Amino acid sequence: MLIFKAIAEAQSAFTRLRGEGRTIGLVPTMGALHEGHLSLVRAARAASDVVAVSIFVNPTQFGPNEDFSKYPRTFDEDCALLEREGVDMIFAPTVDEMYPPGASTFVVVEGVSDRLDGASRRGHFRGVTTVVSKLFHIVGPHKAFFGQKDAAQVAVLRKMVRDLNFPLQIVVCPIVREADGLALSSRNRYLSAEERAQALVLHRALGKVEELAAGGERSSTKLIEAARAVFTSEPSVRADYIAVVDPETLEDVPEVGNGTLVAVAAFVGTTRLIDNVVL
Ligand code: PAF
Repeated sequence: MLIFKAIAEAQSAFTRLRGEGRTIGLVPTMGALHEGHLSLVRAARAASDVVAVSIFVNPTQFGPNEDFSKYPRTFDEDCALLEREGVDMIFAPTVDEMYPPGASTFVVVEGVSDRLDGASRRGHFRGVTTVVSKLFHIVGPHKAFFGQKDAAQVAVLRKMVRDLNFPLQIVVCPIVREADGLALSSRNRYLSAEERAQALVLHRALGKVEELAAGGERSSTKLIEAARAVFTSEPSVRADYIAVVDPETLEDVPEVGNGTLVAVAAFVGTTRLIDNVVL
């Protein structure tokens, strides 16, 4: 497994591999890897000749009062896990390498970037689309793998790839959950044992919505009310949004249909967690 820190070296290695006709699968991450990330790596392994994983805690996608400085950094453990999964290349640049002083170009997907997490975390998706564009230019993957847990991120990145004609396919892998339903997230490490138990309310609320929708309830307002009622059973958890939306545009829909996205975000203590289901 090769580890690249410099953009120029990584870029020429990937250019050579593409020239040899090898297909490249990229899994962009911020490290602090868990089974959710590893499921992306395994999907990439099954679909590509060369698997590349980027590890970069991207400062431009964190707001001034968010957890950039305390975001878990577990580089050595991450590398050990990736080695075991048969990853070929790791790209792990420094912040200065990715954003040299004076860099002032950003990629913005208008509209969809202002919805769901983009509404609560102003500028978040501008940071995501900028760094992912850079990673796509550096690695030049044929396929890039993302988790469905970040459903809004998936919508924004799909649109970016379409609008800017990136010559690659985005592959979205299912949410990986703990046995009790908690969606895996690097931020789960922040939770105390008590908060870990409280965090299950996100999954319970989504389960209630799924149950009602399966029973024929179509009204988004009614489904959101039912999810809110579940959240009241855990008063220490503060819902940020509960949304019933079109999975592509992230716009609210009055009635649910096949493929409607139901997404929630909530603060458990100071930790912001997200989860979703597709009906
Ligand atoms: O999903 C993430 O971990 C990040 O948003 C990503 C895609 C690696 C960009 O920094």
